[in-house]
Amino acid sequence: MSIAFRKTDATRSDHRLSEFAEAVIAGLSSNPKTLPCRFFYDARGSDLFEEITRLPEYYPTRVETGILERGGAALIDDVAEGATLVEFGSGSSIKTEMLLRNGRISSYVPIDVSQSALAEAEARLRLLFPGLDIQPLVADFTADIRLPPLERGSQVVGFFPGSTIGNFTPGEARDLLRHMARLLGPGSRLVIGVDLQKKRETLVAAYDDSAGVTAAFNLNLLHRMRRELGARVNVENFGHRAVYNETEHRIEMHLVSRETQAIEVAGESFSLAQGETIHTENSCKYTPEGFADLAAGAGWRVRRVLTDDERLFSVMLLEAD
Ligand code: SAH
Ligand code: AVI
Repeated sequence: MSIAFRKTDATRSDHRLSEFAEAVIAGLSSNPKTLPCRFFYDARGSDLFEEITRLPEYYPTRVETGILERGGAALIDDVAEGATLVEFGSGSSIKTEMLLRNGRISSYVPIDVSQSALAEAEARLRLLFPGLDIQPLVADFTADIRLPPLERGSQVVGFFPGSTIGNFTPGEARDLLRHMARLLGPGSRLVIGVDLQKKRETLVAAYDDSAGVTAAFNLNLLHRMRRELGARVNVENFGHRAVYNETEHRIEMHLVSRETQAIEVAGESFSLAQGETIHTENSCKYTPEGFADLAAGAGWRVRRVLTDDERLFSVMLLEAD
């Protein structure tokens, strides 16, 4: 499977709205029904994601932050001073602080589809790092984006934490890594967070927490359809399901229709049988070796791999050929 890199300018809000409507119609017309996970992140979805990161069951943020606190700054020790950091899906940019503290980065380009998350992160970082040049980009990082003009000779370091790469199938992930290598240029670095394979119970608990925050995050897609597209959908008639697909090594999130019903949106009606699901997210889990092979196929060599003692999560330093 390959990603169809969109040529549209995702920075225009009118475009984003129609892109959402198009994606909803395409996804609900397909069999099985799907919705792309990047639409989770409106302002409400970004807030819910931040709540997820603080849940006891959601180990990825806690463990990756620990790895970065211990070894993040050293990962970019040989980067020349005055480097530019380009972050993909930057969200709250909390982990970014661990790289910025190294002192070698003078420009920061956070890229995210969530305007609210970018604005909050920018305000905080301006206070914490007054000398840092920050140029946020509201954009879909899978699209054909252009980076702002960089300081001449400035070395480029990419940052893609959170295992957001896991939200793409391995084929899509390879295409995306190739796209990033082209965007960042030959010789550039990429610090990437990659979640590791582990026992099913740990994974399912992380994506189906006891407080129901992940369920609310998943169901927010339907609320967003109502808010932005005027969709007629009875959200109470849907449930949240997280299952571990052992064959594909991925957590799948689904919205489950509790009864036979219809969703009406943009002048179309989509019927759902009782028990039918809308597949909303994959979260693929790797071994360090498996991910290194995937990255090699996209033009990236692994220079270092950091993990926690329990080998729950990894942070890798890649270099573009
Ligand atoms: N990097 C942060 C946030 C991870 S959540 C962390 O590690 O905690 C994933 C983030 O990626 C969200 O902020 C979401 O809005 C953003 N995102 C998801 N898909 C995206 C896409 N296709 N283009 C740009 N941003 C995207
Ligand atoms: C952003 N992404 C890596 C998260 C994940 O773990 O796949 C999104 C998420 N979905 C449910 N919980 C968190």
